[in-house]
Amino acid sequence: MKKLLISSVCLACFVFSVRASASAAGAPLYKNSKASPRERAADLLGRMTVEEKLGQLQQLDGFSEGGYREEHLKMAREGRLGSTLNVRFAGNVNKLQKEAVEHSRLGIPLLFAFDVIHGYRTIFPIPLAEAAQWKPELAEKSAAAAAAEAYAAGLKWTFAPMVDIARDPRWGRIAEGAGEDPYLGAAMAAARVRGFQGDDFAAPGKVMACVKHWAGYGAAEAGRDYNSTDISQTSLRNIYYPPFKAAAAAGAATVMSAFNDLNGVPSSANKSTIDGVLRGDWKFDGFVVSDYTSVQELLAHGLAEDGEDAALKALRAGVDMEMVSTLYRDKIPAALSGKKISLTTLDRSVRRVLEAKFRAGIFEDPYIDPKLETTALKTPRALELAEEAALKSLVLLKNEGGLLPLDPAVKKVAVIGVLAGSRADMLGSWFADGKPEDADTLLEGVRAMVSSGTIVVYSSGCPVNGGTDEDLEKAAAAASGADVIIVAAGESAEMSGEAASRAFLSLPGRQLELLERLKKTGKPVVVVLFNGRPLELGWLDANVPAILEAWYPGVRGGRAVARTIFGLENPGGKLPVTFPRTLGQVPLYYNHRSTGRPPSPSEKYTSRYIDSPTEPLYPFGYGLSYSSFALSGLSLSSGEITPDGAVKVSVDIANLSSRAGDEVVQLYIRDAAGSETRPVRELKGFKRVTLAPGEKKMLEFELGPAELGYYYSGGFAVEPGVFKIYVSTSSAGGLEAVLRVSAR
Ligand code: NOJ
Repeated sequence: MKKLLISSVCLACFVFSVRASASAAGAPLYKNSKASPRERAADLLGRMTVEEKLGQLQQLDGFSEGGYREEHLKMAREGRLGSTLNVRFAGNVNKLQKEAVEHSRLGIPLLFAFDVIHGYRTIFPIPLAEAAQWKPELAEKSAAAAAAEAYAAGLKWTFAPMVDIARDPRWGRIAEGAGEDPYLGAAMAAARVRGFQGDDFAAPGKVMACVKHWAGYGAAEAGRDYNSTDISQTSLRNIYYPPFKAAAAAGAATVMSAFNDLNGVPSSANKSTIDGVLRGDWKFDGFVVSDYTSVQELLAHGLAEDGEDAALKALRAGVDMEMVSTLYRDKIPAALSGKKISLTTLDRSVRRVLEAKFRAGIFEDPYIDPKLETTALKTPRALELAEEAALKSLVLLKNEGGLLPLDPAVKKVAVIGVLAGSRADMLGSWFADGKPEDADTLLEGVRAMVSSGTIVVYSSGCPVNGGTDEDLEKAAAAASGADVIIVAAGESAEMSGEAASRAFLSLPGRQLELLERLKKTGKPVVVVLFNGRPLELGWLDANVPAILEAWYPGVRGGRAVARTIFGLENPGGKLPVTFPRTLGQVPLYYNHRSTGRPPSPSEKYTSRYIDSPTEPLYPFGYGLSYSSFALSGLSLSSGEITPDGAVKVSVDIANLSSRAGDEVVQLYIRDAAGSETRPVRELKGFKRVTLAPGEKKMLEFELGPAELGYYYSGGFAVEPGVFKIYVSTSSAGGLEAVLRVSAR
């Protein structure tokens, strides 16, 4: 921010910057920018009253429109506020910041936080959609673009990435993460942290990341948000923790403790996960913020007797900052006097928060240049990136008879469905300061793509969650004279995200009836799905020739989908999550363990249903292309290694078609027998490659102890024995080889 301040901006900011550095010589150590964050924090801590310390641990909510509350000004002035969420825009941020920096006793700046989940103003596809890209380097770029915009609005901290593994599509927050797989999830988590923070989050345009929700929140029982979780230690280590570990290793500045109770201990008072795993095992040295009122909620959980008990349990567990509830501020002073908690425990948390503030550079550059709000948002580069992100996240689920791509010179196209004309729904559920008017619709995209002679008719069909017989008839009438019908179906944006769990996975409302009615016209139907979770698509799969999964694709989604439908682009995304046939199969995920009686359709006494297949409709890792690809030549550099050894896996991938396209080559292992049972497949590598028509490429992967080992109840080990190696284009089928790991 410094350069900008000097070149332009508000005089007050400039004066402050100069004053802070010029007075450094005789000034307290904490004001010396040359000293380390640790030294500065220690010096500052020594100067603070208990009230000021507790102030640093308090985060309060502003207004969703970006304003602060009147009382925040006084609190900031008195050093009783450490951070806010939702306060943003230069006018608000600089005004409140000025109270903290220039009028409080010690001048400690505030940290301004906001949920920038998939873009700030330029809205990118939802995180689940970005995971479908299988291209972490692209997610890193979109996170960087989001950070630059968030920073321009005065923010220095985002509550992202959300890295919860989710195996239950009923849970609305599955939309916010990278899906069901720990390996893909870890790659996406690290990429997003790098994108938000860069090499140094003090730099202009960078923000601190907050990895959430620690821990196990995605395993909410029955997919009901905020519900309890019960997860074994080995499942935590092998499945739920890896994305957090990767994010911590990538340098994430902060972590958010979750709402859920984990094996009987709420995450926001869970010493073993916070102090034990996060700080102890992984040496995470940032700070932990609670989720929204999750310290207060320890009472409703039945863990805390009263407010003081809740505050003590959370603080002792290592939750440093309290979001919105005020139990630290209200209860810790008396607890300190009563010797129920030591000053050392309090200081530990305060030091962490202060260190993060020093590392974020906000003591030197506390203000934001208001001009950035007009120059740094929705830049052409960000919009281009949003389009690329949308294109890469599309997953072609079905394309019978090569119906897609459509010919732009088609005579008449019917576009049906309220989602085809909706801007707001393209943004998804967590769209920060995105504006519906920034988004283009599928209908606009189609109109822009077809030839000048093509007639495009539109009918909104039925509302997502309702509709009358008349709506259905109107839509059918509009479609009847068309050569092809494009139907936008799915969920409205608010049906995904926080507090949006569903007990059904069917297309809501009368959409299925609408599709049945449209099928009766006898015209070919292309379904474009807008949704934030796997849906039950059995009827569609059996009755509709082409299905394209578009998720909530962001501001450039409409055109990205249209360009793909009409063949200017070739879809290449893959599912980051299993699509079940029916709700009754849930939870259904590819990396399940085997049973003693694996399912067999012909054997009654096996692990199966009597009324449904056990396999998913579309497996994890699945997705089609307009091109066709073939894998061949799988080979291992060695058929046998020792537990500390590594093996190279190589394979050829060829594009057999006359169209350039992307394929995601996926490497899986199966540890055939272990001292504890192992999943039937585990993803351990992937590469998304673009191949020209007829092109063939050799790809290489490496499998070493990190990939072959696993956490069992006694620790982490690569166990001698047979490993099956699969290279495939989804989690089902593919080429197979055998690797033997022999004892040293
Ligand atoms: C509650 C959500 O669980 C969390 O993800 C979010 O960051 C906070 N609210 C703040 O908005």
